[in-house]
Amino acid sequence: MNKTNTFVPPSDRISSFEPYFFASLGKKLASLKAAGMDVIRLDMGAPDLPPENFIIDALINNARRSDTHSYTATGGSLEFKQAVAEYYMDRFEVSLDPKTEIIGLIGSKEGVFNLSQVILNPGDIALVPDPGYPVYSASGIIAGAEIYNVPLESKNGFLPDLNAIPADVLKRAKLLWLNYPNNPTGAVATMDFFEKVVLFAREHRILIAHDAPYVDVCFDGYIAPSLMQIPGAREVAVEFNSLSKTYNMAGWRLGMAVGNADVIEYLFNYKSQMDSSTFAPIYSAGVAALTGDQSWLEGRNLTYKKRRDLIVKGLRQAGFTLETPKAAIYVWAALPDGEKDSVAYCARMLEETGVSTTPGTVYGPHGEGYLRISLGTATERVEQAMQRIVKWTNGK
Ligand SMILES: Cc1ncc(COP(=O)(O)O)c(C=O)c1O
Repeated sequence: MNKTNTFVPPSDRISSFEPYFFASLGKKLASLKAAGMDVIRLDMGAPDLPPENFIIDALINNARRSDTHSYTATGGSLEFKQAVAEYYMDRFEVSLDPKTEIIGLIGSKEGVFNLSQVILNPGDIALVPDPGYPVYSASGIIAGAEIYNVPLESKNGFLPDLNAIPADVLKRAKLLWLNYPNNPTGAVATMDFFEKVVLFAREHRILIAHDAPYVDVCFDGYIAPSLMQIPGAREVAVEFNSLSKTYNMAGWRLGMAVGNADVIEYLFNYKSQMDSSTFAPIYSAGVAALTGDQSWLEGRNLTYKKRRDLIVKGLRQAGFTLETPKAAIYVWAALPDGEKDSVAYCARMLEETGVSTTPGTVYGPHGEGYLRISLGTATERVEQAMQRIVKWTNGK
């Protein structure tokens, strides 16, 4: 960004930042659509389906009340935190104290960003998965910390090799980000891996931040675990979770962090200075979602599975190399032989087929040579997109 001619330059903290990838992509897609192209978006990781009616009813009914329109408590109502505790008990058999070990968030992205602000000082290192959700690095850089990229490689099932992190890095590392089921790779973690992570955290005195928004989007009978299921995890870790993907509530902006009580308090303190919580009926709808009927998630996951199968089959026919993901809403695929530049490849695919996908490097240098496809688009559009991609790659 050239800021020399601006009235007021940006702070050093943000001066090196380009706008978030999807903000720039949105502009490009708008111009292609204006030129008459039928664009199919398989890029953004957002659910296209609505939540169940009982959740929407909870929002509407509470919005109609006269006593729900004032400010809500920082970090959410006690009722919401109790609902999170109930969900963790029902879903994972994990007992959490709603008053000290849970905080409500305005979407988990808010909490992920703020965690870096409340934990990291200049000179500290944040260990960040590469490829990984870009907010882990961006929030650390804005906090003035250094980022050490921990590669996620196909040969390790896209789990980090914690033994490969150099000792001098570990000495200054204060935070390790993990995210399973994983964005962008669709990989999942075992309980065995989580146990090692808790030992690692204790040995090196590094806080683990496990970001788990896809924990309830699973296929083929797979059930994703919570890091909190590991004994002692709550002393060394926080876990982020979200209603965005679990309950198709991405635009509602509702999430939570659970775990280490000191860290939950740091987040509370910081949030009390910077936000004024969210609309009470949103929390009430969250309570309905978390404590109400969960059986509809199975049908929703079957819809994603159908799309996943179409994408996996189509991409293989088109010459990509990939694993069939067991969870999350992404297919992560290595480009066909001879194709190395994922940004150029995705741009060409978009211009020549109208199918928009995300280049792997958006998630870090180890994403080079890959692209990510999201399952959050109507099944018939996914089908059309795959037909276009197969035709395009086979016609080359
Ligand atoms: C890994 C990961 N973490 C966090 C988020 C943020 O989710 P939200 O802020 O909607 O809860 C996303 C969204 O795509 C994600 O992929």
